Amino acid sequence: MSKINQAKSHAKPVEFSKNVFAVGSKDAERRFFDTLISLPKGTSYNSYLVKGTLKNALIDTVNPGFEDELIGKITPLLGDLKKLDFIIMNHAEPDHSNAIPKLLKLTKATLLASEKGAQMAEQYYKIPKERIRAVKNNETIALGGKTLRFIYAPWLHWPETMFTFLEEEKILFTCDFFGGHNSNETFDNEKTLTKEELIRDAKEYFAEIMMPFRAMCKIAFQKVKAFSPKIIAPSHGPIYTKPEVILEEYSKWVGGETKNKAIILYVSMWNSTEKMAQHLNDALKKEGIEVRTYNMLDLNLDELARDLIDTKTILLGSPTFLNSLHPLAMHYLNLVAQLK
Ligand SMILES: [Fe+2]
Ligand SMILES: [Fe+2]
Repeated sequence: MSKINQAKSHAKPVEFSKNVFAVGSKDAERRFFDTLISLPKGTSYNSYLVKGTLKNALIDTVNPGFEDELIGKITPLLGDLKKLDFIIMNHAEPDHSNAIPKLLKLTKATLLASEKGAQMAEQYYKIPKERIRAVKNNETIALGGKTLRFIYAPWLHWPETMFTFLEEEKILFTCDFFGGHNSNETFDNEKTLTKEELIRDAKEYFAEIMMPFRAMCKIAFQKVKAFSPKIIAPSHGPIYTKPEVILEEYSKWVGGETKNKAIILYVSMWNSTEKMAQHLNDALKKEGIEVRTYNMLDLNLDELARDLIDTKTILLGSPTFLNSLHPLAMHYLNLVAQLK
């Protein structure tokens, strides 16, 4: 059995608004995302069950290995799994959509996704066409006392992404947008989670996943603000019961607001480049400029990504290596360009 199939999270369902349940999984064991981003606190795959008086909907699902846990949680909440009417796929990536094929086999539910998402569900998850309904931007469905509105928000960070808005309670389900890798806390207001930590996790997540799509983030952010959500429920990390905190931070990040700040990235073979980097570090500091200096030999990618969000200047120091840049400098130059 592969490691992924042994995944266990033990997260209990939480009803955080009347008949709205967090039913996702916490993955404290996971150490990397995209085989690149380190996860010191693991991550979570948040999934949400919304029960109306007439119909029931599940918003997003879970990562491979957590399907049975999700089924085990929603079955008693529904009374019978067959009472699941809709599965909403805000994003087609496997960390949120992998349980969809199994759930569709066990129920008569219809999969709702954006037009692009519907194509991807068919292509990637081999979902039969008759089980999928593509929703239009701004379309609503009534569950009985609860109305879900779908808002297209493409390229956060795949082309099919959308948000789901529960109108009566003003809860916005944003999938990866506003996400943070954290398997410890379910809500932003838990005593064990400081505001600084909450923002740091979200900032790192934004830098590594959303920053390359900043133009699209800006458009999506305006849409979010127009809905004035009372709760923002992303699919990684804590649910925001005070969305104003994260909205204020996101407004800076999506806007590309920079500080008088410099990042020095260097690699040194005989300490000469290191000396130059140190000299620049001290000289810039004397000018009152915030400086972050990283030796590329042992830098922390997550920290660097977070720093890139609001820096004005990047300085690169490399010795000549086989008539070119040192390979570490090439690697990080490329990475910085990819993160945009
Ligand atoms: Fe994603
Ligand atoms: Fe994700």
